[in-house]
Amino acid sequence: MSILIKNIKQLVQVHENMVTIVKGQDMRHLPVIENAYLYIQDDTIVEFGTMDFCDGIEAETVIDATGKLVLPSWCDSHTHIVYAGNRVSEFVDRINGLSYAEIANRGGGILNSAKQLQNTSEDDLYEQSTKRLDEMIAMGTGAVEIKTGYGLTVEAELKMLKVIKRIKQESLAKIAPTLLAAHAIPLEYKDDKHAYVNKIIKELIPKAATLRIAKYIDVFCEDGYFSVEDTKAILAAGATHNLIPKIHVNQFNILGGVKLGVDHNALSVDHLEELNDRDIEALKNSNTMPVALPACSYFLGIPYTPARQIIDAGLALAIATDYNPGSTPSGNMNFVVSTACIKLKLTPEEAINAATINGAYAMGFSNMYGSITRGKKANVIITKPMNHYAQIPYEFGHNPIDTVIINGQVWEN
Ligand code: NIG
Ligand code: FE
Repeated sequence: MSILIKNIKQLVQVHENMVTIVKGQDMRHLPVIENAYLYIQDDTIVEFGTMDFCDGIEAETVIDATGKLVLPSWCDSHTHIVYAGNRVSEFVDRINGLSYAEIANRGGGILNSAKQLQNTSEDDLYEQSTKRLDEMIAMGTGAVEIKTGYGLTVEAELKMLKVIKRIKQESLAKIAPTLLAAHAIPLEYKDDKHAYVNKIIKELIPKAATLRIAKYIDVFCEDGYFSVEDTKAILAAGATHNLIPKIHVNQFNILGGVKLGVDHNALSVDHLEELNDRDIEALKNSNTMPVALPACSYFLGIPYTPARQIIDAGLALAIATDYNPGSTPSGNMNFVVSTACIKLKLTPEEAINAATINGAYAMGFSNMYGSITRGKKANVIITKPMNHYAQIPYEFGHNPIDTVIINGQVWEN
């Protein structure tokens, strides 16, 4: 199967040489070929160039992209899309004045989602989750990290892992699976958090490892959830099963989780709505990607991650949706790219770098995704007619997507 896309107004994020991460000042650069073609064979990007060199190239499917742009699909490195039902009543409670913390303290929040998930069959959970993923693909996302964390019992966390495994096998999207059993303290452990931490370490991590599905381990390191000490113990247990850390840190409070993540060679540290100079220093000379989740700040009305400070310190940055029922019920990366520009003050070039190559890095596969590079996977977006890629964040709330190609196949909704 081959696809030729021709007459592309701008072929965006195109790299002759392999890139796997873009940092600091370099994030202001987004390489483009004007009046370009792109040739895909099976699931792979094989060739590209200006239209001057397109003569004689034939393909089974030819797409005329006159007036349109082509860019790599979005790489969403932080989601919780496997969940049951929704929390719309808590949304209304927040409008009426309750805070996220107040809702959680009265047994809502993550515990509410856990109750719903525990009472949902594996098949039903798969159907609900795959529908969310399909909507994300239609909005231009081609690679997605998915976390557990709404099970909170050994049985329900394993159910979530099995659903993620099935999604991974059956979807055309690239999936990165993460075990986030330490997402909240279950009610039955509210007076003995350490017993739950021990259960994760002694029972859940080894069981998840035998399923061979989780690649990453996550902890919600936050006041009222898991301390730095808990996080350290869970990451160490994960490491004995080769689970790589990607952790929730600094959403509401700075506890020291960033430094801990770096010390444990975390692939990413996510949220960072609160950040201090020590965190920035810890991230310098590390392989850890800071990840901002601007749609979460938007929905909860909490501070935005100080992304300028991060990039201006020479660091890389990725952006992701955080799609989940409590703090971000949206999987729209186009909105995230817009919000990163409007609220985090990223330039369009920085935001697109953060949502493509750096997002792929934060999932551990930027050697195969996140840029238009020969040999990388054919996950691309063809936009509606527009003059420049900056129109994607500028026209916030619009749908910029015309066609999605995922794993070398034209996506049919
Ligand atoms: O990343 N902060 C922790 N976890 C999610 C929210 C989970 C929920 O409210 O259901 C987040 O924002
Ligand atoms: Fe999250």
